Amino acid sequence: MTKPEITALLDLGDDYLQRYQDGTPIKKVLKDRTQINLFFEDSTRTRTSFELAGKRLGADVINMIVSSSSIKKGETLIDTAMTLNAMRPSALVVRHSASGAAALLAQKVTCSVLNAGDGSHEHPTQALLDALTIRRRKGQIEGQIVAICGDILHSRVARSNIHLLNTMGARVRVIAPPTLMPPFAENLGVSVHHDMREGIADADVVMMLRLQTERMQGAFVPSTSEYFHYYGLDAKKLAHAKDDALIMHPGPMNRGVEIDTVVADDIDRSAIQDQVETGVAIRMACLDALCNGPLP
Ligand code: CP
Repeated sequence: MTKPEITALLDLGDDYLQRYQDGTPIKKVLKDRTQINLFFEDSTRTRTSFELAGKRLGADVINMIVSSSSIKKGETLIDTAMTLNAMRPSALVVRHSASGAAALLAQKVTCSVLNAGDGSHEHPTQALLDALTIRRRKGQIEGQIVAICGDILHSRVARSNIHLLNTMGARVRVIAPPTLMPPFAENLGVSVHHDMREGIADADVVMMLRLQTERMQGAFVPSTSEYFHYYGLDAKKLAHAKDDALIMHPGPMNRGVEIDTVVADDIDRSAIQDQVETGVAIRMACLDALCNGPLP
């Protein structure tokens, strides 16, 4: 996406968030439309917020229960999507463990497809909600030093955030042990760090990531306690960032593994609950934009 396209989606999401917070009525722009959520991987935030987003806009929202669907009888992902498409939904929201799954389905169906996370590849609505959270808390994205720390290798959140933040003019750093850093990470347009204190020095935003053990085969860190010692965010390490640095985490959090509870629950600096609330508004914006035509 281009900077003007991202800005338009953030503006629309901001408007929805403001309306929701003010209690201003929201136009049912998805009335008589159907949205199907198809999640092949576990989710709390993304699935619930997509459901809420569709309902707030007036859509009929169906959550496919994958464990009791015909996928269990051997139906393929593509056949499943084409079957659902034949029921004429306006939008299919897909989370899958395979990188490229949403893009593949988008070629096979006639409705809009929203990527709710595909393997280690991308999580675009997460990056959009993170961007809106930063913009609301910091006033702008351009020029902000954003330190993304943790399991960069397996993180779709990191990849989508790097693309978006670079496009919007932020200065992005990635911090991880060598085992959790993708090869040639500097080619993504970021500065690469293995020392946490160096990586978060003077950062405006510190974004922590979960260790994605479900995507690991073998040991990538010696132990979670050693990982926390070197890469977990606590007050001592955070002191190297700017005094007003924003603390972010896409969730789910592993307290005591990548982030200390005191830091995660700091009511002044932690934006973690804001990220969740902003997620509903951004997903409303994405559904609206995709189902009702292009953004200005
Ligand atoms: N951030 C995120 O994608 O969370 P869920 O896995 O709970 O959806």
